[in-house]
Amino acid sequence: MEKISNDICNIIIDNSYKHFDEELNEQNIYDSILIISDGNVYKSQGHDFVKNLKSKIIYEYIVSPGEDSKSLEVYEDIIKYCVRINLSRKSVIIALGGGVVGDLAGYVASTYMRGIDVIQVPTSLLAQVDSSIGGKTGINIGNFKNIIGTFYQPKFTYINVDVLKTLPEDEFRSGMSEVIKYSIIYDYNFLDYLINNSKDILNRGSEKLYYIVKKCASIKAEVVGKDEKEGGLRKILNFGHTFGHGVEKLCKISHGDAVSIGMNMAFKLSLKENLIDEKYYNNFLKVCKAYDLPLEFENADENEVLEIMKSDKKNSFSKINLVLPVDLGKVKVINTICEDRILEIIKECKYA
Ligand SMILES: NC(=O)c1ccc[n+]([C@@H]2O[C@H](COP(=O)([O-])OP(=O)(O)OC[C@H]3O[C@@H](n4cnc5c(N)ncnc54)[C@H](O)[C@@H]3O)[C@@H](O)[C@H]2O)c1
Repeated sequence: MEKISNDICNIIIDNSYKHFDEELNEQNIYDSILIISDGNVYKSQGHDFVKNLKSKIIYEYIVSPGEDSKSLEVYEDIIKYCVRINLSRKSVIIALGGGVVGDLAGYVASTYMRGIDVIQVPTSLLAQVDSSIGGKTGINIGNFKNIIGTFYQPKFTYINVDVLKTLPEDEFRSGMSEVIKYSIIYDYNFLDYLINNSKDILNRGSEKLYYIVKKCASIKAEVVGKDEKEGGLRKILNFGHTFGHGVEKLCKISHGDAVSIGMNMAFKLSLKENLIDEKYYNNFLKVCKAYDLPLEFENADENEVLEIMKSDKKNSFSKINLVLPVDLGKVKVINTICEDRILEIIKECKYA
């Protein structure tokens, strides 16, 4: 077991749930616990997780797996459930699941009775390396993703890397795009590591999984520790996301697949603008190939992709904020690229 902490984040990385209860008691004495999870996760992890909790009043609220659960309706149902079981300000909510459960449970905790404690226990690769760290919570309204949300830090994030072994193949593969993202934005040597160790990582060897999750969680904690509310540095975490946003919505592909397509668009643009050389781009292509990540989209109109990029809530003063690679392991937020140029790049990444 290892800890990563700073003023904002408190993360425990482990290979089991054994030390969870200890950690919980160190934080506070809670009168009851509400575990929010989804059907898939609860089936594979619920028993193992709960058996490690000693002498507590435990409630469970299980949502349907998938993005649709991040809705106002599900939020309202959970709040009503909290009232019914008398969840108090001395209670704690535990989010046991992927990013959907984490965002939803975090939002419930941040608003119920003006905020009660929440603990993140991420179970997907994306959640372990990204969404469970940094305190962003959110729910969707229709097509508007995370349009309602808060910044609300969990008391701690408890990562049991071992649970990644039950994650469906496709979820694991697409989660790798967030892992790759960290190497491009922060640590170029990590990109080589990902290329050289792809077989063992894809076979989910315990040591390799532990290494990559710890590496990414440390980078995320460091970035968020320096810029909690995304005033500056934290924006680099959006690398691949602004471009990816449009294809994710229109092509109905996973978040991870959209991010790898989005990163490809950003790389192509940097190459055209002479911000990076061909060799660097080729290494990016190599890592995507190793993890079978897509680089092109289909079944969407490039103009519509651009329109969605323009409506991204991360833009400011009507300018599209793009995070572009500018050197090995370094990116920069650039908002001076004209729309025609962006459209050209989107077109280039459309599967012909
Ligand atoms: N808060 C943030 O900073 C942040 C950052 C990135 C993404 N997100 C959000 O995260 C969400 C996507 O998260 P996700 O990719 O984890 O999706 P998800 O929560 O839907 O999980 C993916 C699937 O894997 C299953 N699953 C999860 N862990 C499992 C396990 N160990 N074993 C078996 N099945 C398991 C889930 O039931 C689900 O079917 C999106 O809503 C996105 O907006 C939030």
